[in-house]
Amino acid sequence: MADKYEIQEILFTEEQIASRVGELADMITGDFEGTAPLMVGILKGAFIFLADLARRVRVPAEFDFMAFSSYGSGTKTSGVVRVLKDLSTDIAGRHLILVEDIVDSGLTLSYLLRDLKARGAASLSICALLNKEVARQVDLPIRYEGFTIPDVFVVGYGLDCAEQYRNLPYIASVKKLAGEPPAPRLFP
Ligand code: PRP
Repeated sequence: MADKYEIQEILFTEEQIASRVGELADMITGDFEGTAPLMVGILKGAFIFLADLARRVRVPAEFDFMAFSSYGSGTKTSGVVRVLKDLSTDIAGRHLILVEDIVDSGLTLSYLLRDLKARGAASLSICALLNKEVARQVDLPIRYEGFTIPDVFVVGYGLDCAEQYRNLPYIASVKKLAGEPPAPRLFP
């Protein structure tokens, strides 16, 4: 039987996230003034973060998406990165901002940085809402970071647990249930 989970603790409220997203957008606006960066959302997790960030950034950005498969349906990283969806934009000479919901081991972005550099990107900047620094396996320069989190499994605001919880407006930790779970309690 598949593992069952339930919400344990809210780590960042909707208001806290909105405020931090605004700050990150201001930093990006300042750094990329006079340019038209390509903001690349890493699916699926970054879809909500990028949508909110995009509306606060005040430069004529363009948008594209990539998808990788690195985790199974559980909570452990396999370390294997497989491209599921590639960019539809020619990135030669472009300034890219890679937008992630969370950086964990760093393997996904480490692979991506090498790949996109080889394709001729003029610059590559990482923007991650959550940084789980304690889990890092490779060095990664995160230029725009929302929050640092401890080594807990988190869901909400795009992040899932076995595809559940992505549409929660807040970010919360989950805990594994020993037996049969109670009815899910998604919203406070
Ligand atoms: C998560 C997250 C990052 C990646 C980070 O994606 O969105 O893309 O893992 O992990 P890493 O730093 O250890 O490489 P996931 O594979 O869970 O897919 P999803 O975004 O579709 O949920």
